[in-house]
Amino acid sequence: MFGVLLDEAKKIARNPKRLGQALHLRRWRQLIGILRFNARTGNRWKTAPDANQFKQRAYTSYEEYVRHQQSKFGHLDLTEYDRTYREQLRERLRSLTSLQPGTSVLCLGARQGTEVKAFHDLGCFAVGLDLNPGKNNQFVLPGDFHHVQFPSASVDVIFTNSFDHTFDPQKLIGEITRLLKPDGLLIIEAIQGEAEQSSPDYYASFWWQKIDDLVALLAQQNFKVIHRAPFAQPWPGEQICFRLQPTSPRP
Ligand SMILES: C[S@@+](CC[C@H](N)C(=O)[O-])C[C@H]1O[C@@H](n2cnc3c(N)ncnc32)[C@H](O)[C@@H]1O
Repeated sequence: MFGVLLDEAKKIARNPKRLGQALHLRRWRQLIGILRFNARTGNRWKTAPDANQFKQRAYTSYEEYVRHQQSKFGHLDLTEYDRTYREQLRERLRSLTSLQPGTSVLCLGARQGTEVKAFHDLGCFAVGLDLNPGKNNQFVLPGDFHHVQFPSASVDVIFTNSFDHTFDPQKLIGEITRLLKPDGLLIIEAIQGEAEQSSPDYYASFWWQKIDDLVALLAQQNFKVIHRAPFAQPWPGEQICFRLQPTSPRP
């Protein structure tokens, strides 16, 4: 319990605006939910034996992972985040020449749809997908990014800042590869990793030592890095753009 409160105090020290949220009843409900989840599951993580630069939350089942991921949204007031992240992301995306009005974009793990709105600001045709988009969301559809409902080779660009919420990174990469058109673009906004002084929050399920480790994981799977740019807000991280490489024809 002490750890949870200490983490919250550190976040408030970094961003005093969080104090208002911390005093809200819904935030206390969230803390109780986190404590219950930690008591039930032990807040355990495991390291893949052949890839110790990554760790994964040790869920007891896929259903538990889904319930855990779905539980965050109801506890948050995202009004300020929705406004500021939309602006920050829009400005970061503006410099990418591959994004043109009419470009189709799928945003994975898009929750309330802030990133979708940033792409709309640039004239793109964008839609989001999330395990919990809340009620009456005009920007984000319900769905699981490990099993996406859309056809293969149907989208120009995939964006996600939720890679740290995957249950199965290989399945997620497989879906991204399937969904992108040949030559499609993958844009990831990745938070800094463990060796870069950043630790997972209570909903993260996949964590890297360094952003370079995540980049290497994708580079092994036919994604060529075409652009990298660090940023500081809303958390210290990096925007990485990858071009899906054509696979060699079967003999
Ligand atoms: C840290 S939040 C980021 C939300 C949003 N991208 C934003 O910046 O506001 C991570 C999101 O990923 C979603 N998520 C986690 N696992 C998912 C999955 N398998 N499929 C779709 N969405 C998922 C969660 O529901 C949550 O909304």
